[in-house]
Amino acid sequence: MANASLVSAITRRLEGKVAMITGGASGIGECTAKLFSKHGAKVVIADIQDEIGHSVINSIGPTNSTYIHCDVTNENHVKNAVDKTVSTYGKLDIMFTNAGICDPPRPRLIDNEKNDFEHVLSINVTGVFLGMKHAARVMVPARSGSMISTASIASGIGGSSTHAYTASKHAVVGLVKNLAVELGQFGISVNCLSPHLLATPLAAKVCGTDDEGIEQLLNSMAILKGTTLKAHDIANAALFLASDEAGYVSGQNLFIDGGFGIVNSALKYPESLA
Ligand SMILES: NC(=O)c1ccc[n+]([C@@H]2O[C@H](COP(=O)([O-])OP(=O)(O)OC[C@H]3O[C@@H](n4cnc5c(N)ncnc54)[C@H](O)[C@@H]3O)[C@@H](O)[C@H]2O)c1
Repeated sequence: MANASLVSAITRRLEGKVAMITGGASGIGECTAKLFSKHGAKVVIADIQDEIGHSVINSIGPTNSTYIHCDVTNENHVKNAVDKTVSTYGKLDIMFTNAGICDPPRPRLIDNEKNDFEHVLSINVTGVFLGMKHAARVMVPARSGSMISTASIASGIGGSSTHAYTASKHAVVGLVKNLAVELGQFGISVNCLSPHLLATPLAAKVCGTDDEGIEQLLNSMAILKGTTLKAHDIANAALFLASDEAGYVSGQNLFIDGGFGIVNSALKYPESLA
């Protein structure tokens, strides 16, 4: 019996927890919603793609998950989503502010429009700010919680994405660090994840190719060979940060990039050391 409960604790690492995931209808968010649920969490998906969001809920199981229409740039939507999460499941333990977009690549700054720039920042930065703000509203009185955001490899290096996207992901890291300082006194951890390129609808739109094309592009640049970055790699990192195993981890930006961000591409490496 003792062994059975030990196995259950290992295999269901979020048992009894409640998670809200913005951008949970697709890509990284969808994969994370499914993984969190598998690990015992009640999951709320907050997204603007209602039909797809509901179908994800159906595949997870409607007794353990809920879909809420929520545009992360609209404070009333975010407030309502957090309140509905608490009224449905009694609390909010994990806030995964993951929703994000990227504008079409326009390498020259002078070709970028103010409206496009502000649109990216409104979702990628203001959306994260609002999610954190309303999660803090309910986590602070509870004196516990875990906030996780999806940043990007563009939070650490220049030239990997558009100006708006790169600026927005640097800003996410700034928010994470500031909030980790403020909320540490309440036992709330705040971290973010920074993936390299992976095949999702967002990447397909930006790269103008299909999943296979994205993975070929990624593998052509990869430092870590023999594996290809997938949504489940990001979901597993989110699972770690959301679980009690990450109890003392806060204020961190975890790169999931196979070492890509630490390399100076001007250096030449031997083709093979074998
Ligand atoms: N795919 C990549 O290569 C990659 C790499 C690094 C970081 N990221 C980041 O990962 C996160 C998830 O992206 P993804 O790749 O899974 O893309 P995706 O397009 O599959 O998922 C993004 C989700 O966000 C939702 N969304 C967009 N605008 C929204 C809004 N205003 N309100 C609520 N939801 C909204 C979309 O409907 C979608 O379901 C983003 O923050 C993105 O910047 C992606």
